[in-house]
Amino acid sequence: MLATQVRRPEWAFMNYGYAPADGEPPLALDPADEPDRLSIGLYERTLAGADLTGRDVLEVGSGRGGGAQWVARRHRPRRTVGLDFSAAAVALSARHRRAPGLDFVRGDAEAMPFPDASFDVVLNVESSHCYGSVPAFMAEVRRVLRPGGTFCWADFRPADAVGPTLDALRASGLSLTAHDDVTPQVVAALRADDARKARLLATWLPRVAHPLMRRFAAMEGSRGFEAFATGRTRYLVARLDAPPA
Ligand SMILES: C[S@@+](CC[C@H](N)C(=O)[O-])C[C@H]1O[C@@H](n2cnc3c(N)ncnc32)[C@H](O)[C@@H]1O
Repeated sequence: MLATQVRRPEWAFMNYGYAPADGEPPLALDPADEPDRLSIGLYERTLAGADLTGRDVLEVGSGRGGGAQWVARRHRPRRTVGLDFSAAAVALSARHRRAPGLDFVRGDAEAMPFPDASFDVVLNVESSHCYGSVPAFMAEVRRVLRPGGTFCWADFRPADAVGPTLDALRASGLSLTAHDDVTPQVVAALRADDARKARLLATWLPRVAHPLMRRFAAMEGSRGFEAFATGRTRYLVARLDAPPA
């Protein structure tokens, strides 16, 4: 719906962002990327230093394509594919996000249109909460990953679903090599980006859509924001590795 209603190319990301914790160095960015610093920060935190150079990378749930384009530009993989359920988001991404080796494909995270063992890295940022079945998604991640490949994941869950979610990731047969709760850094990003979001909301969307969008974007004062700020919703990052050949 958002990809159809707001086609503006300058809206490239749809995630809550990540503000570095104390002592974490700030990202070095080109001036053109500054408006997306917090969303790019979430991608970098999710990748956690994974080496993508010369690799084949799949992003599942690529949204408006800003993250896949960032990865293709900054990390120099051989190929980057952004997969999304929304045909409108895929069309928007294909039109506005260009980089060497970057393509966008329409498809379902639970039935991916790729052969077995076709990617070295699968990236999934703030999308899996939308899926009907996380086990079905994880079976697909394992299927499309090459032996020794890496899955980098970030998403939010109710506090009482954190344990079961990590269990579901592990049950895929990939090994959970790192995981972290980054809720404070996400709350800091939400606070830092609130005024900018309010300006964009007022400019881009009709007033009738504002209450829903304030909640969707977890803006300060919304139920979504309060759930993060009080810890009822937690934001997690994890890395899992496929068994070697
Ligand atoms: C909150 S957006 C995040 C987009 C992007 N990762 C980012 O951070 O900017 C979630 C995306 O997941 C996509 N999505 C939801 N269900 C999906 C599914 N079953 N298969 C593929 N993509 C899906 C949505 O269409 C949406 O573009």
